[in-house]
Amino acid sequence: MEFGVILAGGIGKRMGNAEKPKQYLQVGGKPIIVHTVEKFIVCDEFEQIIVLCPQPWIEHTKNLLKKHIENTDRVVVIEGGETRNETVMNSIRYIEKNYGLDEETIIVTHDAVRPFLTYRIIQDNIKFARKFGACDTVIPATDTIVEAIDNEVISQIPDRSKMYQGQTPQSFNALKLKSLYEALTEEEKEILTDAAKIFVMKGEKVYLVEGETFNIKITYPYDLTVAESLLKGEK
Ligand code: CTP
Repeated sequence: MEFGVILAGGIGKRMGNAEKPKQYLQVGGKPIIVHTVEKFIVCDEFEQIIVLCPQPWIEHTKNLLKKHIENTDRVVVIEGGETRNETVMNSIRYIEKNYGLDEETIIVTHDAVRPFLTYRIIQDNIKFARKFGACDTVIPATDTIVEAIDNEVISQIPDRSKMYQGQTPQSFNALKLKSLYEALTEEEKEILTDAAKIFVMKGEKVYLVEGETFNIKITYPYDLTVAESLLKGEK
């Protein structure tokens, strides 16, 4: 069974908008989160699409989705967690409680603030997660990546042809992710902001799914301008 998991539990500090978290800002006349949920709704594979947001925003999110999306029968809105990984874990707890978890339970986790993902990316994620148990959406690095361990002086310049930029979705066998996460110490949980990294740290393989350059994450006010132009290009 596959589940779409839309991560909207953050508050968007870097956007600098005190009024509402960035996932509720409008692009192309619709809240960002609505665009993202629309991309999941068209995938029939999903038993449910679980949207996780801060507790005070749950009712607002439900209302927004009802207002903009014709049929929300498969969409459920629940509370996110303190950290991004805790938000992912809340989705697994929800699935476990309502459906049970087995080897076939797949979660396709996606940032609510990446509204430009495509049907193809979602399908590839489902296929790879079913086959391999874990995958991450990436694009080849265009800029040379420079490492500076002390944040002052270059310590390494890795071969660019082997460097990628991580996007989302990241998709997993839910049972496996749960057991790996539960085996982490509290310190490890604090460092690991990325669910794919939990697999990597524990020596588990995470396969690459090809992303798209336009699958951007809306982080700063500048990204809203980019998003508006990308939407114009979609029409
Ligand atoms: N996210 C989440 N739960 C958290 C923190 C983040 O579901 N506790 C989600 C965000 O809502 C976002 C995605 O993870 O859709 C990517 O994170 P990021 O862009 O860092 O979002 P924010 O944490 O909201 O942004 P900022 O770091 O600027 O506060």
